[in-house]
Formats: sequence, C-alpha cells, structure tokens
Amino acid sequence: MRAPSSDLPIHFDKAAIVAGAVTILGELTLTIAAGAPTVLIGPNGSGKTTLLRAAMGLLPLTRGRLSWGGRESASPTHRAIVFQRPVMLRRSAAGNIAYALAAAGVPRAQHPARIDALLNQVGLGAMAKRPARRLSGGEQQRLALARALARDPAVLFLDEPTASLDPAATKGIEDIVRAVAAHGVKVVMSTHDLGQAKRLAGDIVLLHRGRLIEQGDAQAFFAGPQTEDARKFIAGELLV
Ligand SMILES: Nc1ncnc2c1ncn2[C@@H]1O[C@H](COP(=O)(O)OP(=O)(O)OP(=O)(O)O)[C@@H](O)[C@H]1O
Ligand SMILES: [Mg+2]
Repeated sequence: MRAPSSDLPIHFDKAAIVAGAVTILGELTLTIAAGAPTVLIGPNGSGKTTLLRAAMGLLPLTRGRLSWGGRESASPTHRAIVFQRPVMLRRSAAGNIAYALAAAGVPRAQHPARIDALLNQVGLGAMAKRPARRLSGGEQQRLALARALARDPAVLFLDEPTASLDPAATKGIEDIVRAVAAHGVKVVMSTHDLGQAKRLAGDIVLLHRGRLIEQGDAQAFFAGPQTEDARKFIAGELLV
C-alpha cells in the first residue's frame, strides 16, 4: 500500500476561472480527500475537464485559492492526468511508455522491466511492439493509463476514461482503476456514465454550469440527493 499522499487533500477555496466574459468555474469551495475515487459528474460544459486541469495544476485560477496537502505554492510532482482523447506518440506501445519513464526520470536500465509490468497491468502485454496509433480506441485508453502510471502518481486524474468504449473495454478500464485505487493512489475522474460513477466512486462531485451543486458520499448521494438539481440529474432529466 502506498502511504497516504502528502499532496492531499486538494482544496479549492472560492476558486473561479474566468476566460474573457465567460465564467468557466464559478466560485467553488471543494475538498478532494484521500480514499476511494472522487468522481465528477455533470452535463456537457459543466466544468469537469476544467476542474480536473485546475486540480492537476495545469490551469491557473482567476480568483480564489488552491492548495495541495495544505501547500499553495507548489503543485505536487507525483501526479498524472489522462486526457479524454490521449495523443499517442508515433512509436510502439512500449516506446510510448519508455518516453513517459524517461520523462519521469526512471533510469534506462529499469525501463524493460517497468514497461513489461505496466503493459501487463493494463492488459496489453502482447502488444508491446504494435504501433501505438494503430491500437483500437480502448487499447489506446489502456496505454494512456499505463503511460500515466509510469509516473508512479499518488494522484491520478482521468477525464472520461471510458467515453466511447464498449462495455467490455469499459469494464477493463474500471478494473484497472479499482486496482490502482486499492493500492492507495487517489483517483479523481470525470464520467457521463452514472452506472460507472456508482461502481467506482467513494464520493461524488456534481457540477452544473461551472458551479458545485453537490458533493458527498456516493452511496448517500445516489440514495438521497440533497438538491432538486441532483435529483433531476440522477433521474436523467435535463438540467437547464
Ligand atoms: N479557454 C476557454 N475559453 C472560453 N470558454 C471555455 C474555455 N475553456 C472551457 N470553456 C467553456 O467552459 C465550459 C466548461 O468546459 P469543460 O470542458 O470544463 O466542461 P465539461 O464538463 O468537461 O464538458 P464535457 O462533458 O462536454 O466534457 C464550457 O462551456 C466550455 O466551452
Ligand atoms: Mg470534459
């Protein structure tokens, strides 16, 4: 088990991100603590990707504060993000992971064993030599996860990791997420799949139009949402 990360909790305090006249994230106060995955849900354009990128430290706040483990100055180093449409390097699957290992400062002598272990971890053991860009969508998602895990993250951000995957590929990714989380990695992910949110989440963050509608324990959230918007969203009604 990985020791609880000193980069946690991630705390947003009255955080806002504004682009020109558009408020992308309203003032939101939110804590992402150690434990089972935190799952962000909400309609298209509600701010999930923006929140993930801000939490990762890729996007500066316009107003408010963001801290990792109580520190505001430096974002944590042991973190990784998988974007919704990961871009594969024009190399083999193994070559993509080698690149990530090198970027993470892992000595070259350790690469072959780590590449093997990471490819096996995501079920791509037999595809090491395949050109990454020729892999199927589901396989590329797995490879993107392996690349992120090459950084040995304490916090792993996943933006809709199973969008456009079929049920078998989705289950494959969910199994990896579960295994990674069971090893103490904090997973923060977005999804449009409420079934997936129920299966994976320790806690839920519901966003709408850049605002936090509700955050809480996943079971309690689905059993008894506190707000009318959350009730509607769970029921599959449109939020306007
Ligand atoms: N740089 C920007 N300038 C202006 N508006 C932006 C910018 N970046 C994002 N937005 C807007 O902010 C809103 C939130 O975008 P975001 O990608 O975070 O939503 P999302 O919840 O991830 O949506 P989806 O479910 O479609 O992935 C959207 O309306 C988007 O168009
Ligand atoms: Mg998004």
